[in-house]
Amino acid sequence: MNKLLSAIACVIALGTPVTAQEISKLEKIGSFASLTRNEKSITLSCRDNSQVQLTILAPDLIRVRTSFAKSIPARDHSWAIAKNDWATPRWNLRETPEAIFVSTDEVEVVVHRSPLLIDFRDARTHEVINADESPMMYDAKGALAEMMFDPSAGMFVAAAKKLGFDEHFYGLGEKATRLDKRRERFINWNSDTPGYTEGKDPIYQTIPFYIGLQRGIAYGIFFDNSYRSYFDFGHSSQQRAWFGAEGGELNYYFLYGPGIKKILGRYADLTGHMPLPPMWALGNQQSRWSYYPNTMVEEVVRQYRERDLPLDVIHLDIDYMQGYRVFTVDSQRFPNPKDLADKLSRQGVKIVAIVDPGVKYQPPAKIGPPIKSLAPELEPQDQRYYVFDEGLEKKYFQQRKNGALFIPKVWPGESVFVDFTLPEARRWWGDLHRAYLDNGVRGIWNDMNEPSDFVDQTGKNQLDVVSYDEGENSTHAKNRNVFALLEARATYEGLERLKPDRRPYVITRAAYAGIQRYSTMWTGDTNSTWEALALNVPMFTTLGLSGEPFVGSDVGGFIGRANGELLVRAYQISFLAPFCRNHKVIDGYDQEPWRFGKYYEDIIRKYLKLRYQLLPLLYSALEEAHRTGSPLFRPLLLNYQDDPNTYNLDDEFMIGDDLLVAPIVRPDITSRLVYLPKGVWYNYWTNKKYPGSTMIRIDAPLETVPMFVRAGAIIPTGPDMNYIGEKPFDPITFSIYPDDKGSASTTLYEDDGASPAYKDGAFRRTTVNVRRAASGYLVSILAPVGNYNPGARKFSFVIKSAATSTVVAVADDGRARMFEVR
Ligand code: GLC
Repeated sequence: MNKLLSAIACVIALGTPVTAQEISKLEKIGSFASLTRNEKSITLSCRDNSQVQLTILAPDLIRVRTSFAKSIPARDHSWAIAKNDWATPRWNLRETPEAIFVSTDEVEVVVHRSPLLIDFRDARTHEVINADESPMMYDAKGALAEMMFDPSAGMFVAAAKKLGFDEHFYGLGEKATRLDKRRERFINWNSDTPGYTEGKDPIYQTIPFYIGLQRGIAYGIFFDNSYRSYFDFGHSSQQRAWFGAEGGELNYYFLYGPGIKKILGRYADLTGHMPLPPMWALGNQQSRWSYYPNTMVEEVVRQYRERDLPLDVIHLDIDYMQGYRVFTVDSQRFPNPKDLADKLSRQGVKIVAIVDPGVKYQPPAKIGPPIKSLAPELEPQDQRYYVFDEGLEKKYFQQRKNGALFIPKVWPGESVFVDFTLPEARRWWGDLHRAYLDNGVRGIWNDMNEPSDFVDQTGKNQLDVVSYDEGENSTHAKNRNVFALLEARATYEGLERLKPDRRPYVITRAAYAGIQRYSTMWTGDTNSTWEALALNVPMFTTLGLSGEPFVGSDVGGFIGRANGELLVRAYQISFLAPFCRNHKVIDGYDQEPWRFGKYYEDIIRKYLKLRYQLLPLLYSALEEAHRTGSPLFRPLLLNYQDDPNTYNLDDEFMIGDDLLVAPIVRPDITSRLVYLPKGVWYNYWTNKKYPGSTMIRIDAPLETVPMFVRAGAIIPTGPDMNYIGEKPFDPITFSIYPDDKGSASTTLYEDDGASPAYKDGAFRRTTVNVRRAASGYLVSILAPVGNYNPGARKFSFVIKSAATSTVVAVADDGRARMFEVR
């Protein structure tokens, strides 16, 4: 009986969130004993044989690596890190009887000897930016073992930081919560969570990177640990913010701002910059679980064209396959996939196909030769399934500790998963995508990669699954959270190899830090409710502050029944989101833009057309995200870090620096309060000017989402288009919104939108400056930078502050010029 009770207690305790109080039960790292230094780091040895290594990677980037009760291991590996070859900056070391000081030009790290506490300070002002509240901790005696999801996985490690009285917290990737995460706590454990609502945690992704902000000064912490991890920003403590993990190393990077944009740039350097996807990824996308057969797909596209709604992409969900066998096509439903793709392509529409990680478990029904065909994806697979056969023969599938194949259940029923930590397996998986590319598919949608397992969604069924992990042969406790990252990597690298002259386009549901190198993302299975819609802005902006700039959500929501009003309001956010895709669950009411009647369809058309007109702006902002790490879809906070009114403002957003949008996320609302930050703002629809640093009430009937342009901005737009590439961007119209001094400026980025040539300088960056002149405005177009030539075309200019402004058109011939506009 006792045994039974303790077993029940154990089941209840396992995986319950560890609190700020509970981590006090942990052992604290011993005090300082001695130190060694080399050219780029110092290693501190402690009285309990622990070691702490501080590595100086850049003046604003310090790595802290701690090994408890033993020396720092020689093996040092991370799937997230993109850059290891840092040029060590100037730094120096100073010791006093109390502390050790490591300083760069920007950061001063102070290590107090006893107890061992680390402070990060501003090197110029010596102001403390982030400080340990307790020495780093580890679970030497198994104090938290009963609370751990997998007590055999490793030892709990944690760092506790002083919580500032008005410190704000941002980031952590995909969390179903608000922008400012102060006083909240989170777990990272990639989980398939359909129909999640606000507060549900964890959901699909793990991005253990956050930004702290206090007194306008920001820092970042990237805790690069893929075990089940915890972040607590003062949930149940007024003093302590802490993070920890159920195994692995206490290994984190401190990134110093003080600007958030600078931190995002460094984080991108460290974990990888998002490459540019093909420009058509910014086009409108339509999906459904599932459009089939081929004639149904054609009908959806026909409706789009007939109704004059722009469309670039249609998605094929799981029913295009033979019995959910990935890398196959059901020839009843899609008798000639290549023809279909060609037909759609002539109408400007590209196909994206879903690829799940679950490979149908299918021991051959008949003994005989495996399928040998140049296009096995089109052959019947009911006797033998080539992907299963090949993967099994090559031993690429995951196994349990006892050597048995790991057989989870996903859409095909019993399935197997690839061990994506094996380089050869990644290569094989990537090469399998020939099956799609040969049939005209242009992008790959990686779903179910938490990985989802219908046997048990918590991950319990997977605990003894072993992955190669660069020879460490570690278990799922370490590898679950990086499974999707490595699948996306295999996919991206495969697409790159198969079509080197094309930019890969990959979409993923689950992720770990670094995912932006390989994939864009969407926020999974949302509900068609106003509550879910209200999460769009905080979630997209949070993802943008977490190194994932290319984000979006199923427009209108995935599960349940939308209505015209909800769908319109959803488009009024997503028409500016990088990923704009309407998608619906198999048994949900139809949700294409025309399904609720002409009244709503007409409004949706207006916003989709506006999206296409704004492409020059959106693409320029996307390139900025690629280059600098600053997302295009931003919280106001990112542009106005000095303004505390923005610190928890998450029902407005900005596109780049210039466009501010205040969407409606509740039913039956026709006006709202809008906060306008400092400066002057133009109502996008009326050109009426408003002084900033204030809250205004503005009309927002269903037809009109409140939108404002920053005075001083120039918004470049192109012509109406049904799809990207239908026409050249000619003319490009520059709408000028002068500030109080009569100045405005912008920089337009362009390239071929399709090939990787932009990486070698094949782009054009055109800067336009405007200033007030005697009678009107003087426009100067600077000589463009870069060696991409968009061909002959016109630029037009219009002044938005003038009651009547003539449009002035000039030829863009790649030369600098200056002229007047009134
Ligand atoms: C998952 C995906 C969803 C997809 C469905 C069928 O629920 O999140 O987008 O439609 O699987 O593949």
